[in-house]
Amino acid sequence: MAKSVFVGNLKMNLVSPDEVGQYLINLKREMERLAHPDVSVILCPPSLYLEQFRKLPSVVACGAQNAHWEKSGAFTGEISPLMLKNFGIEHVILGHSERREHFGETDEIVKQKVDAALKHFLTPIVCIGETRTERERGEVESVIARQAGSVFAGLSKLQAENVVLAYEPRWAIGTDVTPTTAEIMEVRILIRKFLTESYDAALAAKVRVLYGGSVKHTTLPEVSWEAEMEGVLVGRESLSPLEVAKMVESLQAAPDPQDAQSL
Ligand code: PGA
Repeated sequence: MAKSVFVGNLKMNLVSPDEVGQYLINLKREMERLAHPDVSVILCPPSLYLEQFRKLPSVVACGAQNAHWEKSGAFTGEISPLMLKNFGIEHVILGHSERREHFGETDEIVKQKVDAALKHFLTPIVCIGETRTERERGEVESVIARQAGSVFAGLSKLQAENVVLAYEPRWAIGTDVTPTTAEIMEVRILIRKFLTESYDAALAAKVRVLYGGSVKHTTLPEVSWEAEMEGVLVGRESLSPLEVAKMVESLQAAPDPQDAQSL
């Protein structure tokens, strides 16, 4: 993966062939304009469109928004990690707060999915983050420790370094409210500490951590590299290819994370 990561979560949007077609035309134009970005761009459309998105220029990778933990079987409506892999998909978002909230996904379920994704050589982009109430009660540290603890339980170093974490405070998703740079950096430090204690500092430096929740190109520096994050996970704003390009450009212009840490 490149220096920074941009993940676009298109959620359950783009509802007609025309809309999908127009989005792909505009995205292709915007991406071709960017000369070899040093940013991994991963777009996650509804699974019905994965095949079309997979045909985008290779500067754009394609990811799923969810996957089951079994490789096949009687699970009506689900999509398996093995199917994704066999159809050339490399990434999958897991544990998104909307899945946790509307589909009852617990830490245990998310963990089963993470293990299955890794088993099938997919890169899991795993969302963790506290609710507003948990933040107000001062529980950010314990929530992050619990969720990260569950994600990484029993993973070897090799598996752990393939996990991408997305810190997405639930109260910041779809709300136009974002934490301050200092609040995001505190979580970044908690995650680094957790990984250093669970593995070692070298592994902690390898695991990519993204920020997600109401990211716009105007706020991107303060929620990503200024907070020592390696990139962003973007919902609504990724529905505009022009905004995607602006955010990718902004990440491209970010200083090297190693330099930023030594500032
Ligand atoms: P948002 O969504 O950018 O619309 O707040 C973030 C997400 O889906 O994780």
